[in-house]
Amino acid sequence: MLPQEVGLHRSCCLIDTAALTHNMSTLKKGLAPGAEIAAVVKSNAYGHGVKIAWRAFVKGGATWLCVDSLHEAQDLRDDGYDGKLFVMGHVPPAHAATAVQLDLRVMTYDKAQVDALGAASSEASKPIRLIIKLETGTQRQGLKITEALELIKYIQKYPYLIFEGTCTHFANIEDTTDHSFAYEQFRIFNEYNDILTANGFKPTVRTIANSAAGILWPNTHCELVRAGITCYGMWPSTECYVSAKLLGKDVDLRPALTWKTIVAQEKLIDIGSVIGYGCTYQTTHPTRIVVLPVGYYDGYDRALSNLAYVLIHGKRAPIRGRICMNMCMADVTDIPDVKMGDEVVLLGRQGDEVITAEQLASWSGTINYELTTQIQSTVPRIAV
Ligand SMILES: Cc1ncc(COP(=O)(O)O)c(C=O)c1O
Repeated sequence: MLPQEVGLHRSCCLIDTAALTHNMSTLKKGLAPGAEIAAVVKSNAYGHGVKIAWRAFVKGGATWLCVDSLHEAQDLRDDGYDGKLFVMGHVPPAHAATAVQLDLRVMTYDKAQVDALGAASSEASKPIRLIIKLETGTQRQGLKITEALELIKYIQKYPYLIFEGTCTHFANIEDTTDHSFAYEQFRIFNEYNDILTANGFKPTVRTIANSAAGILWPNTHCELVRAGITCYGMWPSTECYVSAKLLGKDVDLRPALTWKTIVAQEKLIDIGSVIGYGCTYQTTHPTRIVVLPVGYYDGYDRALSNLAYVLIHGKRAPIRGRICMNMCMADVTDIPDVKMGDEVVLLGRQGDEVITAEQLASWSGTINYELTTQIQSTVPRIAV
């Protein structure tokens, strides 16, 4: 059975808020002295439901939240979050007045954007803090040091613009155990910050560390770690997990999301029957199948067709045939007494069995980040 709060929906995500809070306080304990931690809650809190997640993270000790866009920032302010809020993605100049009104930290790398924010902050007589993105090797948003210096000088002409800090983002820390590229990015970041300081623009907030660096390298924590995936109890990658083990780090992360649905139909089909669109699966024996009311529209990826398993009565049932837009089929021949309305776990634990985000992601050829963020935002998230 699904919880009552699911209403008319046929699947839901249960979010373990104690796990989210635990993850945050665990990460916080690993911070270098003087560093704060931001929970990255963009993309509906990596699919976990931002309204549930941000409160759990603040409870666990997060002193900043990071989002990608203004609409995400607006949602957090509307929901009552009044702490430090950093928009890391593109803020179009046309939206500058909203950024000022919402009292945000804005990632900046562009003069037109500075002009718009400068004008909007003067108009409102309200300061806004800017964090300059430095280019250290990811080739995304950032500025080289000469461009950064020029932009910071330019910012000074606006009385309500505050140059608060610098930011950069690692390109190759999760995908490898060879961290030479990441070390070089950190070296460049430090060099750029030294040059800014020598020119009279000392950043008060420097932030480079994401989840992986947050766990692996306390020396990169500077004033702020921006942790995403680990807050949700997932590792950035196997390589990161191995690197942590090699460094002797034992970090207890607890996954927080369980995605459940129910059996919509159960039936016996003949030997030689084909299942679903494209007739991609043919039975080799009389087969009991169940129809599940979840498909790729809900975020259950079509690439999982004929590959994934779901959990029913604590046992693994293989998906048969293609995932449809709103349905999929699973084989319950070896699971007795399955009936309409029985609980099905698509992701998470049921009894002694578990399907992890990493496992599901590997079946569909992607990563845990994409897997949880692509669960439709209309699927109810319920705090437990
Ligand atoms: C700019 C920026 N900072 C931090 C993060 C958090 O990364 P992670 O989830 O690996 O901690 C992201 C995630 O995409 C990001 O884009």
